[in-house]
Amino acid sequence: MALGVAFAVCFVTGLLSHLIQHPPAWFWWPSRPAGLYRVTQGLHVATGLACLPLLGVKLWAVYPRLFTWPPVRTIAHAAERAGVAVLVAAALFQVVSGTLNIYHVYAPMPFFFTTGHYWVAWLAIGALLVHVGVQLPVVRSALRRRPAPNAEAPDKAADAPGATAAPDATAAPDATAAWGRRALLTGVAAAAGLITLGTVGQTVRPLTGVSALAPRRPGRGPQGLPVNKTAAAAGIVADPGYRLVLGGPAGERRLDLAALNSLPQHTAELPIACVEGWSSTGRWTGVRLRDLVTLAGGDPERATVLVESLQAGGRYRSTLVPAVHVRDPLTLIALRLGGEVLHPDHGYPARLIAPNRPGVLQTKWVGRISVR
Ligand code: HEM
Repeated sequence: MALGVAFAVCFVTGLLSHLIQHPPAWFWWPSRPAGLYRVTQGLHVATGLACLPLLGVKLWAVYPRLFTWPPVRTIAHAAERAGVAVLVAAALFQVVSGTLNIYHVYAPMPFFFTTGHYWVAWLAIGALLVHVGVQLPVVRSALRRRPAPNAEAPDKAADAPGATAAPDATAAPDATAAWGRRALLTGVAAAAGLITLGTVGQTVRPLTGVSALAPRRPGRGPQGLPVNKTAAAAGIVADPGYRLVLGGPAGERRLDLAALNSLPQHTAELPIACVEGWSSTGRWTGVRLRDLVTLAGGDPERATVLVESLQAGGRYRSTLVPAVHVRDPLTLIALRLGGEVLHPDHGYPARLIAPNRPGVLQTKWVGRISVR
């Protein structure tokens, strides 16, 4: 049940992250609360990592059934077993690929992680629904059954007075029987707890000190903020002749850093909330995007804005900022972080920072802004 709930949480939060990044016409994502995405994606990765021991013990509990004889009794049984095979493969794929991704180990994944992880999520959740549907009678009887007072192992519990034998549950050996139910559950809960404590400090600041397994930690990185893509990795070199190109109904203009600094400056405390589950708050200062929209002759209440990076390529080179974020006074083209000029790895000379958006959509090294 814990594994089922964890997968459901992962599916919903993952789907949300996908929709925010690839919004269909019907989808709307607010700009407040400013830290909502850091909660949903932090939950995604924390729950996903807690799945590692849950899935491990579940598979260990049922693996002897791989060897039952005859392997297939009826056509329906064959279909059910095929469904379980899909579920096991998809579940393993999700937790393994997710974990490799947050530790930036890409060699075993000869595909684009996000695309694979997204489509296999549908497969996993579909196979899980079918599996739960097929096993509903077993689930029902197991939930109705009270554990016998001396119940230590599942096979003993099934023999207890009042117990209803599950149709298939006792037919095959159960690898957990030797352990005893309580010891097993305590072990799994402890493992899930340790993994959570070891990693959740990547987004829950008070736990940063104990989260030795966290791939990124708040407060660590240039100007006290972690970085995923550095300026060097993006092929960015500082250009003294930098001009921000601002296009809109009033035509096109070029603003150098002096011009940008002469516009009204505002400060906002906003997190960088990475798709990889880590997040960290910074104090950003710069020009409100809505002020730039006005300067470009657009309507700051209704305009959408295309923000493009100086990067030559890459999946996250540009982003479309929807009207709800454009009009939010916290959305900035930031020039400073913590009172200092932006570090190159944080997007010098200028970057987008908006409330409640994934880090991959907070475009760095902004070169062009087009008001629509
Ligand atoms: C250890 C377990 C897991 C980890 C560490 C993990 C990690 C991640 C990460 C880092 C992303 C962001 C990808 C990106 O936008 O670049 C993501 C997205 C996603 N995850 Fe997971 N995940 C795990 C398990 C799961 C499970 C079990 C499911 C579903 C059953 C799931 C469903 C999704 C979906 C639907 C997305 C959105 C993909 C997209 O943006 O197209 N994840 N996950």
